Amino acid sequence: MRKVVLKEKDISLGNLILVNSYYKLKREPKQSSLQEFKNNVFLDNECCYNLKEILKKIPNQEEIIPVSGFRTKKEQINLYTISLKENGEDFTKRYIAFPNTSEHQTGLAIDLGLKGENDLIRPRFPNNKLGKQFRHLASSYGFIERYKENKVNITKIAAEMWHFRYVSFPHSKIITEKDFCLEEYHDYLKQFPYPDKPLKYQNYEIYYLKYQKNKKIMLQDKDKLSGNNIDGFILTRMII
Ligand code: DAL
Ligand code: ZN
Repeated sequence: MRKVVLKEKDISLGNLILVNSYYKLKREPKQSSLQEFKNNVFLDNECCYNLKEILKKIPNQEEIIPVSGFRTKKEQINLYTISLKENGEDFTKRYIAFPNTSEHQTGLAIDLGLKGENDLIRPRFPNNKLGKQFRHLASSYGFIERYKENKVNITKIAAEMWHFRYVSFPHSKIITEKDFCLEEYHDYLKQFPYPDKPLKYQNYEIYYLKYQKNKKIMLQDKDKLSGNNIDGFILTRMII
């Protein structure tokens, strides 16, 4: 057991942070929390490890190409600016998040394409045999398909079949099974405040903790805490 004092600045840290046009990125990840996945594509360490685990299970994994992972603010600005010129405002707003509202700046998002892919903004990652194999495994290893057609009114981003976001297990499973987008999941979790009313899923208990100044909580050894980048934290507790 360890006693932890919740800090306001940590609301913007962790696998479950919501980054969108309302809840902007507050800080870039440290260099030490990133590693190269492949072909100069960098990802958050835990995200990278789990992506590799998925690919190990796919026989033709070399056909799946990482197109874009971590981007600096400068890279996101360049992408946005060039697209505005080349593709116009409507397309750009639908397919590229405004700088500091992009999940790519967290290191927790990966765009995947198929071998031979040369579209950097909209890579092709269809629901063919390979795409199905990947999607089938993704939620068991912490990933969600982040921008779905039926959630465009909430995410304000067009359907992106190539963009996967690491949120960690079991959150990825719950989000996928309930067909939530990340915005809806964070709303849903507010019904499960710490310490009285956890969301129970398999051998996990999940709690929402609204930030309060100087709030102390007792964490168990395997507990995981992530900010939501909104107003508090999500505690993930494994029950033995
Ligand atoms: N394509 C996604 C929305 C991004 O630019 O972050
Ligand atoms: Zn993306």
